[in-house]
Amino acid sequence: MTSSPATPAATPDDSQEGEKRRVAEAAALLVEDGMLVGLGTGSTVAYLLPALARRQLDIRCVSTSPQTEAAAAALGLAVGPFGSIVRFDIAIDGADQVTPDGWLVKGGGAAHTREKIVAATSDRFVVIADSSKAVDVLRAPIPVELLAFGLDSTLRRLGSTRLRDVPPSPDGGVIADFFGAIDDPAVTARFLRDTAGLVEHGIFPPELSTDIILATGSGVVHRT
Ligand code: 5RP
Repeated sequence: MTSSPATPAATPDDSQEGEKRRVAEAAALLVEDGMLVGLGTGSTVAYLLPALARRQLDIRCVSTSPQTEAAAAALGLAVGPFGSIVRFDIAIDGADQVTPDGWLVKGGGAAHTREKIVAATSDRFVVIADSSKAVDVLRAPIPVELLAFGLDSTLRRLGSTRLRDVPPSPDGGVIADFFGAIDDPAVTARFLRDTAGLVEHGIFPPELSTDIILATGSGVVHRT
């Protein structure tokens, strides 16, 4: 990945909310008329939606959560069902952790299964994150979505996992957090992926993201 300052230029607002707004507005500028757009989930994406709506582009969107879908529709964005689109031109989403070499943890908002499907289905996957998300190495917890069938058995095989006190995902999955050690994210991702009963985990490998737009306090860095 190469790094360059992203537009728009930094404003004096270097609060966390200001950072989220800046990276979201920079990402909104990457969307063009006619595009099929995947919308992520979370408080950073909440700044993306009005920035996109203000541009009044002719785009079709699909959302990764009911919350984003409702917020996008309320702003007048055209949001359709996921099944109607098999390839996105661009998807834009937040992250909980971002390493210098592009590993991500996602799923703080429990939407990581849909988010990974959308990321894997997009020509361009743009990650937007405030500076608090920058980490040297990935750390626990890693969000996981589990099948309700055989849940106790899956939890026993995973070890070090805590169920979240939240409703099931929109797809019926049980949301939990994995607290095992992460010496090598690729090894942990493989262990999680190979655990029967685990639907999806929140480790996103570097090859899934084409762009990372990261706030750096007073500025914004765009890595591609
Ligand atoms: C939801 C996610 C979010 O993108 C991630 O949790 C970041 O959220 P926020 O922008 O609120 O910090 O993965 O499942």
